[in-house]
Amino acid sequence: MFGLTRARKTAAVAATAAAAAVALLSAPTAEAASSRIVGGTTTTTTAYPFMMQITDASQNQFCGGTLVSANKVVTAAHCMVDETTSSVRVVGGRTYRNGTNGTVSRVSDIWIHPDYTDVTQGNDIAVLTLSTSMPYTPASYVDSSDTGVYATGATARIIGWGTTSSGGSSSNQLRTATVPVVSNSSCASSYGSNFIASDMVCAGPTSGGVDTCQGDSGGPLLIGGVLAGITSWGEGCAQAGYPGIYTRLTTFSDEVTEQVQS
Ligand code: ARG
Repeated sequence: MFGLTRARKTAAVAATAAAAAVALLSAPTAEAASSRIVGGTTTTTTAYPFMMQITDASQNQFCGGTLVSANKVVTAAHCMVDETTSSVRVVGGRTYRNGTNGTVSRVSDIWIHPDYTDVTQGNDIAVLTLSTSMPYTPASYVDSSDTGVYATGATARIIGWGTTSSGGSSSNQLRTATVPVVSNSSCASSYGSNFIASDMVCAGPTSGGVDTCQGDSGGPLLIGGVLAGITSWGEGCAQAGYPGIYTRLTTFSDEVTEQVQS
């Protein structure tokens, strides 16, 4: 429901009204005919060196993350629910999910936004502290004052190993696509009160076909090459009228900086 499923967990939307809406929305509408993220192209961690796999202790990738300093990774709070510092690894420099190369780090601290409860309530952000520094160039992230980056129609880049169609399989190779930023009013007309403009930003073409999907969560939304969002949730994937929803990083930038400096 609402695309909340990831590899190993399902987040449930509590509201009955929402559940009823989901039942209606879950009809097999508008699935991208050719799915390839959904609708992207293959890429590498050489092209995006800050792109981290978030894995379990056996190095099975289940979310993405963005390296923002040698030992700090920004990801989604919902990726870290039920995780502990011993259950998670961060892997850099590994283009393929089934690869064994790159740098594997344990996590010494997991900061989950203290107000996080559910993706539809916002605050979907976490910062991991790595035990081993990553020898890769980190991404810059937006400042709290950079709110202009989310101009309607701005081109944003999404990156991940997630499924290439709703209900499909994860991609072995890293994928990327570009999606236009969607206005808050348009996103609110799609998602109603589950869209919280202060904490979320939507991106995706009106006609669907290009989107993040299950397993992409926690990964970056880049605008002008700068980390501006975190893959969070959506209704299905790549459906017309239901753009992907990303954590609005300007809202949380100061808290990220506090974590990066801690
Ligand atoms: N919640 C998903 C995850 O954990 C991400 C879903 C993104 N959905 C979308 N339609 N953009 O991987």
